[in-house]
Amino acid sequence: MMEFGERYRVVLFGTSHGPEVGVEIHGIPPGHDVDVGAIQHELDRRRPVGRRLATKRQEEDRLVIDRGVVNGRTDGGPFRAHVANEDVQRAAYDRMRDLPRPGHADYPARVRYGPEADLSGGGIFSGRMTVGLVIAGALARQLLAPIGVDLVGFTRSIGAVDASIDPSLALGEIRRRASANEVACPDLSSALRMEEEIATARRSGDSVGGVVEVHIDGVPVGLGEPFFDSIEGDIAHAVFAIPAVKAIEFGVGFGAARMRGSEHNDPFCYENGRIRTTSNHAGGILGGLASGMPIVYRVAVKPTSSIARPQQTVNLATHEPAELVVTGRHDPCIVPRAVVVVENVGAMVLADLAYRGGFLS
Ligand SMILES: Cc1cc2nc3c(=O)[nH]c(=O)nc-3n(C[C@H](O)[C@H](O)[C@H](O)COP(=O)(O)O)c2cc1C
Repeated sequence: MMEFGERYRVVLFGTSHGPEVGVEIHGIPPGHDVDVGAIQHELDRRRPVGRRLATKRQEEDRLVIDRGVVNGRTDGGPFRAHVANEDVQRAAYDRMRDLPRPGHADYPARVRYGPEADLSGGGIFSGRMTVGLVIAGALARQLLAPIGVDLVGFTRSIGAVDASIDPSLALGEIRRRASANEVACPDLSSALRMEEEIATARRSGDSVGGVVEVHIDGVPVGLGEPFFDSIEGDIAHAVFAIPAVKAIEFGVGFGAARMRGSEHNDPFCYENGRIRTTSNHAGGILGGLASGMPIVYRVAVKPTSSIARPQQTVNLATHEPAELVVTGRHDPCIVPRAVVVVENVGAMVLADLAYRGGFLS
């Protein structure tokens, strides 16, 4: 089952080259205003349109709400929404039917589901499935906004180019700067070098990966379920549903392993009527629960597997070695389009934990 969550339960449906992709959400109480334009805005951020350096697959991604909203408000029943798949080109995938792409899901998916499975465009392993995650997250952030939760994601690095970000930047300012360029990076000089990094990879028939970073403000202290459903555990679980995600770290992450306790511990202080810490190496999470400091996580996105260079594979019908030249339309770098997905998945997880912990009702 393509399902996540207990109290804000998200079920994905559809496939890359089927009629539609979308999401069903169970557990939303009745009477919440739904800003359809805000959900559409998040879907528009996910689209490659306007990005010179992205896939040429052109989809309108017009949001259709099938049920769960009456007169602009949730009706207490399951919410269901989808977008149509319009720009479908099966021929490219028919040619590669017996030739699994190195680095893509083709080979294990074919073994698991058999030759009848519709793996055109990657099937259920396509980046297109993230439409449902974005809808679920966009609605979740509307439910979380009244308790003060706000999130922003951005590109931290692409290939060898690292952004330099002032840690004191307000979320709104990060959002404004990141939305002003093609690679969703708030550091404008690095953004230009990132664009060049992608263009260089593409020119040589290759692809490039990078890191997405998310900052979340306003998460109530204590949110998170003890032991297995810690904030880290649930965010990691959901983030790994995003195709091409290979690693996640919270706060200083792997850097913690090289620090002393005296350096890593975030000292507490009392400021403006609330307890906070003077640093945030923990990334806003202690014991799996929100500490009240911004939640910060970074996600590694691999270089797109479908590259234009000839690659070595095996013909699944004959078991003969074969050379594969991948056709179809592919992103030379997934990172800028993954930003909105990684960010909205954070909102989806926090909504579930907020309902479970009684922070939302
Ligand atoms: C927004 C988005 C767009 C993607 N676009 C492509 C693409 O154009 N070509 C491709 O080969 N993979 C693309 N992917 C990644 C593949 O779906 C993914 O690598 C594949 O399913 C194998 O899964 P894994 O990388 O998690 O092992 C995209 C992923 C996302 C999140």
